[in-house]
Amino acid sequence: MTRLSRSLLFFLGVAGVCSASPGALLTPASPSPRSLETRSRSGFLSFPIQQTQRDKPRVSRRQVDDISAPLFNVSYVGYLIELSIGTPGQSVKVAIDTGSDELWVNPDCNDRELLATQRQECLANGRYNAARSTTSSTDKVIGPPTETIQYGIGSVEMEYTTDNIAFPGSDIELDSVQFAIATETDDLNEGILGLSFGNGTNLVYPNLVDELFAQNITDSKAFSVGLGALGSESSGVLIFGGIDTKKYTGDLIMNEIQGPQFARDIHRYYLNLDSIGIDRNGRTATYSGSSAVVVLDTGASFSYFPDSVLRAMASDIGGRYSANAGLYLVPCSLLEQDGTFDFKFESGVVKIPIRDMIIQDTQAQACALAADKELAGSGIDMLLGDSFLRSVYVVFDQTTGTIGMAPYVDCGSNEQPLPATGAKGMKGECDPASSKQDKDNAAGGRLVASYASVWAGVVVGLLGLALV
Ligand SMILES: *[C@@H]1O[C@H](CO)[C@@H](O)[C@H](O)[C@H]1NC(C)=O
Ligand SMILES: *[C@@H]1O[C@H](CO)[C@@H](O)[C@H](O)[C@H]1NC(C)=O
Ligand SMILES: *[C@@H]1O[C@H](CO)[C@@H](O)[C@H](O)[C@H]1NC(C)=O
Repeated sequence: MTRLSRSLLFFLGVAGVCSASPGALLTPASPSPRSLETRSRSGFLSFPIQQTQRDKPRVSRRQVDDISAPLFNVSYVGYLIELSIGTPGQSVKVAIDTGSDELWVNPDCNDRELLATQRQECLANGRYNAARSTTSSTDKVIGPPTETIQYGIGSVEMEYTTDNIAFPGSDIELDSVQFAIATETDDLNEGILGLSFGNGTNLVYPNLVDELFAQNITDSKAFSVGLGALGSESSGVLIFGGIDTKKYTGDLIMNEIQGPQFARDIHRYYLNLDSIGIDRNGRTATYSGSSAVVVLDTGASFSYFPDSVLRAMASDIGGRYSANAGLYLVPCSLLEQDGTFDFKFESGVVKIPIRDMIIQDTQAQACALAADKELAGSGIDMLLGDSFLRSVYVVFDQTTGTIGMAPYVDCGSNEQPLPATGAKGMKGECDPASSKQDKDNAAGGRLVASYASVWAGVVVGLLGLALV
């Protein structure tokens, strides 16, 4: 979820284009049979990430008035972790979101915009009842008692409270953490754990990342994330104050986090990107106009590029724009091919397999590029969401002001604390060759098990399925 800044809210209010913005809806699916077990050792706190999935019709604005037009059902994958809030602890699952900065719980599961299954899953994520907690209080709240957050998609009105927060499977408990309880939500069916900058930058109170540091659980305001392969329940991990050197290969490319980019912008995980290119079938090319300041956002399913760049990327892989889907449809054969989109940052290139940026319907009948064009006028040039982040292991480090990235490979587990000096020089232990294995598994999995794909369902005839 991209938290919009004040100037942008103003812009949206005036222009009334709330639906076409960065940040995609995160939605939950059936609870994992695997129990969530948090691991904690000194200096860090590690969570398995739970993938959830929810279908949502993708309707272009043009279609809203025309009910006979086809619907395109996209299934968005969300990434959740479980918290235990209050005394005794109440289990609540929340989406991890580097695009925003506050923790809130209790979305409105009766929101009329939610599908029946979304409602069930909304309820299954758990709710927090302050009245049932002996440590809940509103006396210690810092700042205004209520707040409204507008995300790229969706919004929440909420009331602040403080309570203790513990982590399932660990004996770590944070005292008196400020967070919020939703009083009204729009188009959001899970609580959100904002992992971006908190007290003294975007907020007047310490958020969870601040508290983990202040209460000596972590040695720095840093965490690392490997979202894991799609459909693989066991591979994703979020580690506060730590790193897992068996979740990536080679050296981390370290880049400096950039400050706010425009008047009244907030602090975000911004990086300078020199260019985007392609490396495929022995040909390389660089897209003009692809130099930008990018935001890394685990809460967005798609990535967002300037229109001309998106068009060039799609065209290079045989994409054709579908106005009905509002997406570029591409040949599904790309899922079995090599080739990368190359993101050149200041201190190195991150190669993202093209197949990882493609989503597929459950019947394996249509595929599309998991990217959209940016919101003109938002101030944000480019956003790299899950379609980019799934392929990398990322260390977000506010203390050193850097972000480290390396190709994600899962070759086991070696979790260790991140020193206050940062992740620089911590080499990944995985063999790059094992990404080959990932590739085979991923492609096979998508084609065989429909629920391992991100995209559920296509409707009925109308969409040039000939591309397949
Ligand atoms: C929040 O930040 C302000 C300004 O940087 C600081 O004075 C204050 O002590 C911080 N509050 C907490 C609770 O850490
Ligand atoms: C955290 O550690 C510092 C330094 O060791 C200590 O002064 C402080 O009291 C500790 N804070 C908490 C909440 O334990
Ligand atoms: C897509 O979603 C809509 C609305 O929920 C539903 O009516 C339609 O049957 C779905 N289509 C497919 C192919 O799943």
